[in-house]
Amino acid sequence: MLKAKSTKSNTSRRTFIKVSLAGAAAWLPDGLIPDLLEEINKPKSPNDKDWKQIRSQFILKKGVTYMNNASLGMPPLSVVQAVHKGYEAISKEPLHGKHDLQEAIRERVIPGLAETFGTNDDEIVLTRNASEALHLQTTALKLKKGDEVIITTQEHPAGLRPWMFRQKQDGINVKAVFIPSPLTSESDVLDRFNSTISPLTKAISFCHVTRGGHLYPIKKIATWAREKGIVTLVDGAQAIGQFPLNIHDLGCDAYAVSLHKWVLAPAGTGFFYVRKESRDRFQSPFDPNPSTDAPGFDPPGTKDFPTRAAINAALGFINHIGLDQVEERCRYLSDHLKDGLRQIDGVTILSGNTHNLSAPGSTIFEKEGLDAMAAVPLMEQKINTHIDEHQRDGHNAIRVSTHIYNTTAEINRLLNAL
Ligand SMILES: Cc1ncc(COP(=O)(O)O)c(C=O)c1O
Repeated sequence: MLKAKSTKSNTSRRTFIKVSLAGAAAWLPDGLIPDLLEEINKPKSPNDKDWKQIRSQFILKKGVTYMNNASLGMPPLSVVQAVHKGYEAISKEPLHGKHDLQEAIRERVIPGLAETFGTNDDEIVLTRNASEALHLQTTALKLKKGDEVIITTQEHPAGLRPWMFRQKQDGINVKAVFIPSPLTSESDVLDRFNSTISPLTKAISFCHVTRGGHLYPIKKIATWAREKGIVTLVDGAQAIGQFPLNIHDLGCDAYAVSLHKWVLAPAGTGFFYVRKESRDRFQSPFDPNPSTDAPGFDPPGTKDFPTRAAINAALGFINHIGLDQVEERCRYLSDHLKDGLRQIDGVTILSGNTHNLSAPGSTIFEKEGLDAMAAVPLMEQKINTHIDEHQRDGHNAIRVSTHIYNTTAEINRLLNAL
């Protein structure tokens, strides 16, 4: 039986949170309730001492430090248990188990995601990951031969490849605008898009946060594009879960999401959003006769019900902490890391200089004489710490992506090793 470490501190417990009650338990039908009833304090500051109890909700192997959240987040025990319970349910009684899980997804997960991230229920469909959502938004956009689409040089392969497919298959002209690393200013990013478009440009496709942690001025880009009648397709894989987010408010037409990174949901979860007013710009490959009311973006077929239902537990967890506090904590940790990196000879930080240009949790940097590819296994061997390389855009960078459960002590160990 999986158990969370108990850190029942007697210190001021003014704000109590029952993770499973308000999160997963309240949102799952009877019989699928994770039995984690541990009370956790709502942190009062971004300091490590106030996050100790939250840290205890994760079952990471003792001695290991995990700083590769931008690749895959580490779900808390309540999420692990929710997946377990869901599989138990469809294994013990497949008919009713499946029904209950479908109901939980329809009645709890979709409304929970919509409420947390500022969409309507009928504007999102669940996917296995951001890659699937990116593929869907790219292939579903109505375009004709000769139309032009602008992407950036910082796209993830999951964002780039569907456009290469459309270029080859449909004769779409895909142009990549060069964006430097680090970003220099919001207006520089906007100017680069502005000077690349032409009268043939029908859509722009770019990251909200890149895999290297660069934060784009998405609202400004979406507003500018809308004024020009250009559709905006956004890769939100690295953005969602790092800070409060209202997708409607961003103003984009489509948004692709990973839930297994910063939202801490089970691996194999994401969603695809299309703004209701923009539906007629898209045609689902899954439905030959879609309508504006029923665009048919959700493919038919059996889904990974237990995994999807467990998204609920992850939402319960992050919503109880609060995304504003997640952002504050992630900033606190990455600022600590950046301060330390600035003291090391030969280190160049490639993350934007100011908070509006770099995401809270991901930091990239180069160190003279240290190959990024070699640094990843080296840090595992030397200090049992998992980081990632970022050898892209002509850089030989290391990526460190820290989430709420990391600590300044872990960061100090990495800085010493560097
Ligand atoms: C910017 C960006 N987009 C898309 C993806 C793909 O995400 P997923 O693994 O959920 O398909 C990643 C993964 O790291 C990413 O960093």
